[in-house]
Amino acid sequence: VRLWSGRFGQDIIAQTLDYTHTTDVDRRLVQVELWASMAHVLMLCRRGIIPENDGRALLAGLKAMLQEWEQGTFQLDKALEDVHLNVETELIKRLGAEVGGKVHTARSRNDQVVTDARLYVREQLIGLGRDLAGFALDLCHAARGHVNSLTLGYTHSQPAQPVSFAFWLTGYASLFRRDLIRLSHAYSTVNQNPLGACALAGTSFPIDRALTTELLGFDSLLVHALDATSARDFLLETASALAILMGHVSRFCEEIVVGSTFEFGIFEVEDRFATGSSIMPQKKNPVVAELARARAGIAYSALLELLTVVKAVPLGYSSDLQQDKPPLWRALDATASTISILRAQTAGMHFHHDRAARACWDSFCTATELANHLVRALGMPFRQAHHVIGALVRRLTDEEQTLSNTARVCEILAESGINLAEGEVQKLVDPSEVLRRQQSQGGTAPERVSETISALEGEFRILNSAWDERAHRLEHALERTLSVVNKYVGGESLPSLLPSDGL
Ligand code: ARG
Repeated sequence: VRLWSGRFGQDIIAQTLDYTHTTDVDRRLVQVELWASMAHVLMLCRRGIIPENDGRALLAGLKAMLQEWEQGTFQLDKALEDVHLNVETELIKRLGAEVGGKVHTARSRNDQVVTDARLYVREQLIGLGRDLAGFALDLCHAARGHVNSLTLGYTHSQPAQPVSFAFWLTGYASLFRRDLIRLSHAYSTVNQNPLGACALAGTSFPIDRALTTELLGFDSLLVHALDATSARDFLLETASALAILMGHVSRFCEEIVVGSTFEFGIFEVEDRFATGSSIMPQKKNPVVAELARARAGIAYSALLELLTVVKAVPLGYSSDLQQDKPPLWRALDATASTISILRAQTAGMHFHHDRAARACWDSFCTATELANHLVRALGMPFRQAHHVIGALVRRLTDEEQTLSNTARVCEILAESGINLAEGEVQKLVDPSEVLRRQQSQGGTAPERVSETISALEGEFRILNSAWDERAHRLEHALERTLSVVNKYVGGESLPSLLPSDGL
């Protein structure tokens, strides 16, 4: 019989069960469901809401189920609809209805499900935050060796100005820094305790919500019971952060794919991150970067799906809200696996220096600096200098020459009465020299990029240790709950194990 079947004259048909059950999605929630149930039972005992002996039996049962889940001997039964009814039914089966039937005092699936989701998502955010911080640190580390490595910078996908490979790498690190901050903000929204809100209105039992907040390692209590059971913005904020991050990842991967083309030839991924063609023997396809580029779509669609699920749901739980987990799980999985493999791929990616430097020499990318020189040396207004150098570029292009033909550059400029020493021009058209001159704050000059790397590395270390600290706090909270459970089940008294009474 169903735990909720008292007022029903018929059982649900198989089709209804298939349509409504969540046991597949809930498999990720079993451990946190058991942890949250332990915290709830400890609280019930501490407040004298259920008898001590019943509480001890429930806790022993929950502990055994946790072990069995980890060993694979406890499994979710689809017929029991969701993780909550599975766990409660199992307790009743093991302990009898008299004892097992007490676990659901002063709680509801409505506060349970958001408690579980928050416990699970915060763990996922920590894993992702650490990996992303690691990836960003890897980018900085790689950049250290490339502050003098020339590569072409583009605007409109057209050659623009010379930059260093380190400047390009740190450009992405600088973007990912904000993604890490967004993930941290999402974490703060996620890590609030809704347990004790019950169905929607709180309860007449004298519960202690501060105690479950502490046992479950939440940062704070989500006080308002109706808000606590209804809100899903913690998932929306997480999904937004994931969507923005995956957009950045997609841009990064686009550059890897394009840079790996025959025409560009500046990047090459290791063979182990590429696959071949079934018909064309010469092919080496950067499939990881291509798929990562596309998987942004998973994160985007998850965000849109979640926004749509939540949009018109009145306050108070509605089953619509059950549709929140599949999209978020997908987005979390896609993002975590993408960051992880990109981190590995980027570490061994080859950068073809010669090819990149050649592109700088051949592309007129130093023309801006030549115009700047006319401003500085001759006091020419910049707009006029722009015209003079533009005309020079046009002449050289017609003659199939580049700025590296410095003798010809001097001749053409002399025709307009601009006389520059060829030695000077040789410096002005050298992409490495031009790179060194971009000394403004945040510019691509090696000194500036070195400073940028140091600043970013410092920030990533701080962000990373913040994730570590969160992880430790959660480990500590879980260990504490388990240790209190063990000692209490072993006969110790609860007021000595949980001295603060939360009042
Ligand atoms: N499986 C449900 C979910 O994922 C749990 C909450 C169900 N609550 C209810 N009153 N039916 O949202």
